[in-house]
Amino acid sequence: MLRRALLTASRSDRVRDLITSAPGTRRVVRRFVAGRSLEAAVGVAGRLAGAGLRVSLDHLGEDTADRAQADHMREVCIRAIGALGEAGLTGAAEISLKLSSLGQALGADGNRIAFDNAATVCAAAAAHGTTVTLDMEDHTTTDATLAVLRDLRADFPSVGAVLQAYLRRTEADCRDLATPGSRVRLCKGAYREPASVAFVEPHEVDLSYVRCLKVLMTGAGYPMVASHDPRLIAIAADLAARSGRSPGDFEYQMLYGVRPDEQRRLAAAGETVRVYVPFGEEWYGYLMRRLAERPANVAFFARALLSRD
Ligand code: FDA
Repeated sequence: MLRRALLTASRSDRVRDLITSAPGTRRVVRRFVAGRSLEAAVGVAGRLAGAGLRVSLDHLGEDTADRAQADHMREVCIRAIGALGEAGLTGAAEISLKLSSLGQALGADGNRIAFDNAATVCAAAAAHGTTVTLDMEDHTTTDATLAVLRDLRADFPSVGAVLQAYLRRTEADCRDLATPGSRVRLCKGAYREPASVAFVEPHEVDLSYVRCLKVLMTGAGYPMVASHDPRLIAIAADLAARSGRSPGDFEYQMLYGVRPDEQRRLAAAGETVRVYVPFGEEWYGYLMRRLAERPANVAFFARALLSRD
């Protein structure tokens, strides 16, 4: 119930205005977002890389409503790749992209615009020796995003995909994408979806996650296990061992600010761990999805809202 209310609020302009202007908000944002500027984000990426972690940098923004903004988002991503290069971080840090930020929702031409923008970012990433992963948004965009992925991979085979275990279709998508060299991030899924397309009960989502993970671990691709769930992390380790995978043949991924001790524990044990690091001004939708995932975060947020920053 609370999760649904928060996910609905994540799309509400009125709630957005209320929350973004509250005095205590900044403290909560700081926990989950690396900073407003690219410099701050590169600083965080450097610190994480120094601690033996990898990074996927995400310039926050979604549902871009005009062409100029879509092109601006592309340019920020290209600047981010350049800045990672200058800091000597492209071996450890890649870029995550939301196609809706690059123009996917711009009417009949949206997919072409998003593809062109994403291809330009992929070319910059390739020139700097790093990779790009396409985030997955709500289920109405899954087919279009997978089509863009396929077209991008024709020139940039390392482009990573994201699949969401809460969608009923995802086990089949995992089979399609478990091919040699295919980087696939498996997450539970963060949007409000109808029961017609998604598992709604948490235990159903977890069971789907395990089925999907089995397909990826026994397949020929490179699984990226994006979860903070201790049970799923233990199952992933077991499935990897049974499938003959060593550290480096798959990776764990977690969000900046969520279970940082576990991130470091896994890395210290020799595992590859990548931290998803968001930065920028457009943090509202991202933050609301993080709050929806964990009631304890809502209490933390409510206390911060009532305090002075
Ligand atoms: P779950 O939410 O069940 O949490 C398990 C445990 O982890 C909790 O009990 C708690 O201990 C801890 N935890 C989880 N979330 C927390 C939080 N916000 N704060 C504090 N503790 C928390 N989704 C999507 O739809 N499209 C995408 O492209 C991506 N991309 C993505 C990249 C990466 C690297 C990650 C880790 C996640 C995503 N996601 C995503 C989000 C994902 O779908 C999911 O919403 C979150 O990862 C939370 O799910 P968990 O698997 O962690 O389980």
